[in-house]
Amino acid sequence: MTNKVVDVETIGVLTSGGDSPGMNAAIRAVVRASAQANIKVYGITHGYYGLINDEVLELDTHSVSNIIQRGGTMLKTARSDEFRTEEGRKKAAKNLKKYGIDALVVIGGDGTFTGGNKLSKEHDFNVVGIPATIDNDIIGTDETIGYDSALNTALDAIDKIRDTADAHERMFLVEVMGRDTGFIALETGIASGAELALLPEELTHVEDVKKQLHEMLKSQRRSSLVIVAEGDETGGAIKLAENIKEDFAQYDTRVCILGHIQRGGAPSARDRVLASRLGAAAVKVLQEGHSQVMVGVVNNALKITPMHVAISKKKQIDHTLVDLAKILR
Ligand code: F6P
Repeated sequence: MTNKVVDVETIGVLTSGGDSPGMNAAIRAVVRASAQANIKVYGITHGYYGLINDEVLELDTHSVSNIIQRGGTMLKTARSDEFRTEEGRKKAAKNLKKYGIDALVVIGGDGTFTGGNKLSKEHDFNVVGIPATIDNDIIGTDETIGYDSALNTALDAIDKIRDTADAHERMFLVEVMGRDTGFIALETGIASGAELALLPEELTHVEDVKKQLHEMLKSQRRSSLVIVAEGDETGGAIKLAENIKEDFAQYDTRVCILGHIQRGGAPSARDRVLASRLGAAAVKVLQEGHSQVMVGVVNNALKITPMHVAISKKKQIDHTLVDLAKILR
């Protein structure tokens, strides 16, 4: 982290990696907070791919009208293999110079920050990250932009599945997103009253799953709902169903993979507010001369975390919630 005071005249903003609801609200806040401070803003489309390939457009206050309520990202997003190379980052830096961009705001997850951090170190650009991923796996912020929306989208679908599971007295295995982390699985599990939530963070043995389900179904339950994070070591809901359905033949097991619907849709109010705070904060910290940092909100206060810390490890799930889920099921 550097603390030299810089005179920021032109900011670039991009979204990269998997999209998440609220990215548009963050872009809007970056643009409008910059306008207030007389800073010019360029939007870069398709993330680092667009930066390498000169996809740059000027944004003003009006360019970001009517987007706060929209999912996806007006700047589009992509994953760029070329940007992982020094050569690719050199091309990106050349384009930043071409437009006179002296600071960059990167909106995304850990991959986005890893790339931004390298670009900043190699080419002496000030870079600030805004955490946006439905996975909620970034340290330095209580929640990432998009997590709350994805959680509610998944929960809405799971509630509907519960109705039909109950009507047919079936067992449903519902797979939610989360390649490496189980935040969505854990919290939808608690909020939907699921019988089990299987997370990548917890060792899952198929035999234990069967045992726990048999015990629960011995009581008066006639349907059951198991939430499976896509990254759970059982191999996801389809594989788990193959491994357990014969033991529960009377429940006529079904699988539902929620997939990318969790990434789309209107951002929740919480995500819009979080994105608005973080977009404005990113501009402020750049004006204060910070670089290679991420802005987040911890205990309702803005927090600056060095990027190398933010990408050093995944955020841990709260094990008291894991225990709570077990008590309440
Ligand atoms: O990182 C967000 C995320 O939605 C993960 O939960 C999921 O594993 C991954 O992205 C899916 O990526 P893609 O859209 O490339 O299939």
